[in-house]
Amino acid sequence: MQIGIPLETVAGETRVAATPETVKKLVGQGHTLLVQHGAGLRAGITDAQFEAAGASLTDAATALGSEMVLKVRSPQAEELAQIRSGAVLVGMLDPFDAEGLQRLAAAGLTSFALEAAPRTTRAQSMDVLSSQANIAGYKAVMLAAEHYPRFFPMLMTAAGTVKAARVVILGVGVAGLQAIATAKRLGAVIEASDVRPSVKEQVESLGAKFIDVPYETDEEREAAEGVGGYARPMPQSWLDRQKAEVAKRVAAADVVITTALIPGRAAPTLVTAEMVQSMRQGSVIVDMAAGKGPQGHDGNTPLTQADQVVQADGVTIVGHTNLAARVGADASALYARNVLDFLKLVLPAEKGLTIDMEDDIVAACLMTQNGETRRK
Ligand code: NAI
Repeated sequence: MQIGIPLETVAGETRVAATPETVKKLVGQGHTLLVQHGAGLRAGITDAQFEAAGASLTDAATALGSEMVLKVRSPQAEELAQIRSGAVLVGMLDPFDAEGLQRLAAAGLTSFALEAAPRTTRAQSMDVLSSQANIAGYKAVMLAAEHYPRFFPMLMTAAGTVKAARVVILGVGVAGLQAIATAKRLGAVIEASDVRPSVKEQVESLGAKFIDVPYETDEEREAAEGVGGYARPMPQSWLDRQKAEVAKRVAAADVVITTALIPGRAAPTLVTAEMVQSMRQGSVIVDMAAGKGPQGHDGNTPLTQADQVVQADGVTIVGHTNLAARVGADASALYARNVLDFLKLVLPAEKGLTIDMEDDIVAACLMTQNGETRRK
């Protein structure tokens, strides 16, 4: 199979869908790898490294015109125009973007969105949401430390003592857990909240305190269980009590990192404008849900502006939407391995493209085929 690796064209994107390591493995399996000139440069990979791994260097049209195209982001209009009808596309294709999927179907592509893989043990090695959220959680803490005008750790010096930063993390999925671990390594004092009760133990095992908001009704308990490990919208009664608890913690915090998402819906508002006002001068919020909030530009706080760093009442609010791309080399390395593992399912050795709908991962990731959307 001819496999193309184009240069990503979305603004600010640094990642690439293959690395010399994965190219070498695919070439070893008998595939022809066509890598666009410069595709890996922003991830620290030179053309020469791709060539040494066995790839041929090409232009955009050839890479996009391959039988199979490996991408990071869903193709933009001008890229889509260069992908041929009948080609196979693998990438992070936004499974909840119905219009985008319709365009892929209309272009005659067989496409697989890796974000749609189930969160099961077998799918772990190809779980792009986890690999990228893990990196984003780390980077969120790095950005918070950069914008915060004080130390994170407690320090006792000859010139006096410095207090440890108080960090509050709202939403403890993959990104939130990595944010806790990273902030802990920097010496912060951490509190964290999530709707899912199962994360309490994980939070405590990382040395942070869990902000408990007990469930009072069966409806609340049931909603908190979520579906497939994901959060569901919580009843208003619980959200009101959570808000009161979170408000107290946020007012006392130096740094707030919010990661709360609900797949396919707007991210919940957890830090209101009044809560931001209650924070101290110089505090920092990193809103990892930026661009996914109810207003579109916002995130877990209504004051967030997607892809901007803004000041509100003396608080710095960081709204970068693509944190993983700010760690482009490692983000690409992990993403490319996720892609390679997924390809084992659809490109088994000695066979061409194989779409086994009995395989739950393949069935979940298949978005379009034969001109139609197949999203389950
Ligand atoms: P996510 O990115 O969809 O959401 C982030 C976090 O926000 C979640 O923990 C969610 O519960 C929380 N949240 C939503 N609404 C909230 C609210 N109102 N207040 C506070 N927190 C709120 O989550 P992610 O990281 O994608 O993880 C989703 C699930 O998948 C988790 O249960 C995780 O353990 C599971 N998972 C399973 C894997 C496997 O078994 N292979 C691999 C990775 C994740």
